[in-house]
Amino acid sequence: MRSGNLIEAIGDTPLVELPALSPSPSVRLFAKLEGNNPTGSVKDRIARAMALAALDDGALSAGRTILEPTSGNTGISLAMVAGRLGFPFTAVMPDNVSPERGQLLAAYGAEIVYSPGEKGSNGAIEAAQEMAARDDRYLMLYQYGNAANPQAHYETTGPEIIRDLPEVTHFVAGLGTGGTLMGTGRRLREFNPAVQIIAAAPELDDRIQGLRSLEEGFVPPILDLSLLDGRIMVSGEESFRKTAELLQKEGVFAGVSSGAALAAAQRVASRVSEANIVCLFADGGWKYLSAGLWTDGAEALREKAEGKVWW
Ligand SMILES: Cc1ncc(COP(=O)(O)O)c(C=O)c1O
Repeated sequence: MRSGNLIEAIGDTPLVELPALSPSPSVRLFAKLEGNNPTGSVKDRIARAMALAALDDGALSAGRTILEPTSGNTGISLAMVAGRLGFPFTAVMPDNVSPERGQLLAAYGAEIVYSPGEKGSNGAIEAAQEMAARDDRYLMLYQYGNAANPQAHYETTGPEIIRDLPEVTHFVAGLGTGGTLMGTGRRLREFNPAVQIIAAAPELDDRIQGLRSLEEGFVPPILDLSLLDGRIMVSGEESFRKTAELLQKEGVFAGVSSGAALAAAQRVASRVSEANIVCLFADGGWKYLSAGLWTDGAEALREKAEGKVWW
């Protein structure tokens, strides 16, 4: 496929069947590989949509700097998109996220402001809000509350799945901002009201990079829980194991939230006799290499993960 520039190359990711991980020939699992986006994650879709919407309504204009609290993927995507559109970008992130993330942001030309690691992503949100209130050069796109986030999935992710697998019965994705689930879910439901929309979420106190537990107290404004048919809790340890299994059994090198999505999809699969389940794998495995999860055993992984927040 040919594109006029990198922003146009976002989306249209492969939908790949996972036969070795499906329980029976009548219950089929498919993965939407968002790691195939230009910067390696699903967030390219929303970075493009939020920036273009801000340009359209005049909020993004000459002299402004895009600001976003993000522990990684959204920042990397915004850094690329902002650069292509000619705007500076500043990311606010907890100081304990994996080193690859800071390195990648810097490589894409972003400025990084660190917030206290023990306050997690909520601390990064607070710090960015304070910066935006103090300095009106900053434009915070705020993925948690920006309608262009779910809209990007409504306009791209959903239609791609319908085009590639019109017989889809279930959609499973990790819950972070909720943008993927809301936008894709709404589009799939319009196509077939019987499609089930299921979130994979971390157990409270378990940190899975990119996902959030609503029990921590913050419910993203764009999230409408009534659209979800279920929320399946997955532990960090199970997410690691499934992420490793994905590479062993299917050759798919994906990030840890994809292990959580796979675990949730397999739980759904075990309850039905006939289904075409699509799970969305939000990013590739590259940013998680330092976790050692493809090389160490589960026990070692659990020990490593204790007390850390960057998975
Ligand atoms: C690795 C990863 N997985 C899953 C998600 C969740 O996606 P969403 O924010 O659309 O709910 C994110 C979002 O931050 C992410 O970075």
